[in-house]
Amino acid sequence: MDPKLLLMMAVSVVAAVGGAAADYVRPLPRKALQFPWSPKHSSYPQQVHVSLAGAKHMRITWVTSDKHAPSIVEYGTSSGTYTSTAQGESTSYSYVLYSSGIIHHTVIGPLEDNTLYFYRCGGEGPEFQLKTPPAQFPITFAVAGDLGQTGWTKSTLDHIDQCKYDVHLLPGDLSYADYIQHKWDTFGELVQPLASARPWMVTQGNHEKENIPLLKDGFVAYNSRWKMPYEESGSNSNLYYSFDVAGVHTIMLGSYTDYVEYSDQYKWLKADLSKVDRARTPWIIVLFHVPWYNSNEAHQGEGDDMMASMEPLLYAAGVDIVFAGHVHAYERSRPVFKGKSDPCGAVHITIGDGGNREGLAYKYIEPQPEWSIFREASFGHGELNMVNSTHAFWSWHRNDDDEPVRSDQVWINSLFSSGCLAKKS
Ligand SMILES: *[C@@H]1O[C@H](CO)[C@@H](O)[C@H](O)[C@H]1NC(C)=O
Repeated sequence: MDPKLLLMMAVSVVAAVGGAAADYVRPLPRKALQFPWSPKHSSYPQQVHVSLAGAKHMRITWVTSDKHAPSIVEYGTSSGTYTSTAQGESTSYSYVLYSSGIIHHTVIGPLEDNTLYFYRCGGEGPEFQLKTPPAQFPITFAVAGDLGQTGWTKSTLDHIDQCKYDVHLLPGDLSYADYIQHKWDTFGELVQPLASARPWMVTQGNHEKENIPLLKDGFVAYNSRWKMPYEESGSNSNLYYSFDVAGVHTIMLGSYTDYVEYSDQYKWLKADLSKVDRARTPWIIVLFHVPWYNSNEAHQGEGDDMMASMEPLLYAAGVDIVFAGHVHAYERSRPVFKGKSDPCGAVHITIGDGGNREGLAYKYIEPQPEWSIFREASFGHGELNMVNSTHAFWSWHRNDDDEPVRSDQVWINSLFSSGCLAKKS
């Protein structure tokens, strides 16, 4: 259906209900995007995306249908002149009747910080460009979860593309392939323009699971296609890992893997937090899929068990900001701990509003809990600008029709600079 017509229908629904006299009309879900079949020869690099892979290194991932295509990346700092070559590895997976293409993972580096590189995959095809993140503040993260591949996803990605950012953070639910494996391929095609140019650091959601009892383990496609730097961060699972960039230590956790006390993930998290040097990385950010602080009726209470196990660890370590997805709406908390405002707690932000096909989660618990400071069911994306070791500026941009509109913004002070860490140790 024509999106304008949908919007008009949304307007008339709201008018009919006689809702609050807001000047903003919440849009309806948009249709799935169409991906016209465009055959490529078998060694042509497709679905290119890049991710951080340890200090000064990046991992380049792409797919070919030819299993003899080499896993090499040629790169350099001027277009067409490749001064370095790196050799990687490849993998593939099968899933019921589907066989994936050859998925190449090649780590390049050491790379200069904050530098534009030109690269080519598998010795052929188009040249891509990526920019490495800066070594110092300021650094900007783009944040959006629960992306999918609809007209709203396209709108969110267009807005992220307009912003000047260094690293994309994704708190789970990427493709919404939901067992239909070729949708992982179309998702790879959809995000390539952005994900080939800036590192995309992701964690997994329920839509990545795709397990079939007795037949298929969970996360097969996700782990094969979105390899993250878990080995580089001392983890033995692609489902949780950490990385340092500029002065920020970022931890990605798994909401759907063991999180109880003394599980592998718990032990890894505890060890990882104990290694953080606040002089080097004054900020700590954590991402996972299922929010712990959520006053939307959707997915109410689903994060409680993980929170009971892991929130004390995050609090003791002075984690500054936590991002989650899952709930298709936006919500920001005050600094919070154990269900109550606490000046030394983390700010929790739910940002599962990338634009997937399931639509928005409109219903909120009333009255708004004391810890919840801003909540709105709209699609959009966030930008986190870490200005220096003490100040970060967070803004949330709603997809108001097709324009990004800054709807929520706040300065966040690092716990490191507010005396909280001394109090805790
Ligand atoms: C950090 O940035 C904030 C906001 O621009 C500024 O007020 C503050 O003085 C800066 N602090 C340092 C240590 O540079």
